[in-house]
Amino acid sequence: MAIISLKDAFDYGFVKTAICSFNFVNVEQLYGIVAAADELQTPVVLMISQKTALKYGLEVMFNLAKSKAEKLHTPFVIHLDHAKNIELVEKAINLGFSSVMFDGSSLSFDENIKKTYEVVKKAHRYGITVEGEINAIYGKEEDGPTSAIVYTKVEDAKKFSEETEVDFLAVSVGTKHGLYEGTPSLRYDLINEISNSIKSKLVMHGCSGLTAEQLRKSIQSGIKKLNFGTEVMLTQINAIKKSLENLSKPDIRPIMDSSIDEIKAYVKNTINSISISQ
Ligand code: G3H
Ligand code: ZN
Repeated sequence: MAIISLKDAFDYGFVKTAICSFNFVNVEQLYGIVAAADELQTPVVLMISQKTALKYGLEVMFNLAKSKAEKLHTPFVIHLDHAKNIELVEKAINLGFSSVMFDGSSLSFDENIKKTYEVVKKAHRYGITVEGEINAIYGKEEDGPTSAIVYTKVEDAKKFSEETEVDFLAVSVGTKHGLYEGTPSLRYDLINEISNSIKSKLVMHGCSGLTAEQLRKSIQSGIKKLNFGTEVMLTQINAIKKSLENLSKPDIRPIMDSSIDEIKAYVKNTINSISISQ
């Protein structure tokens, strides 16, 4: 089916409440995610991070996603995730990505606004959705910051959203990339206040490790896009470990294949557990 922009996924009613977004780094992860979306007839965002793009090639990863997802019976979004490099964003726009994230959260606030607005102007000419980020999400993802969580201020989100005209905005409301030690302090009040004050739709990064209840409450408070990465990786690692125990011949393919069904089950469970099936 068609590649649609993240904005159109909402504007044309393909998504009613919130959309799940999954990072993938290899064929099996992609196949598992796509199979789940197809079976549930639910659009998802297929995310390729800057780190993955630089490691395996942006075009290679994009073509992989496109050729597989075109066979789906539901529309889908192909998104460049956490791109800090404007040239990479431009390359993604030219290739046909339907959504791009420019992550200027490590820049000064003013510089972030300036660069993000540049990306918005370019991308919107082609109907491509743009996600921006303020207050870098704590954790190791894409070599991000490792200092303590800084919660986003409502007035910062407002200024950023107005001045950049960004469609989606990643905010820091208590999540972090990677797994949690202990219970994260999610600020549902803050999500609610920000989402009521700005036009851009809110994105929650670092969703791996959150409970279904935390995810649902976040959606009820105003989150529209939920990002999952680590859990996809872990699901695959565990599946491979298990099938290696029964290795009978020197063939890596059945070992890798074994992870597709597990990833499919994980993605289906995630979509179902937060009740956002369309
Ligand atoms: O951008 C990607 C996500 O924020 C992934 O976070 O690996 O903690 O699920 P996660
Ligand atoms: Zn992230």
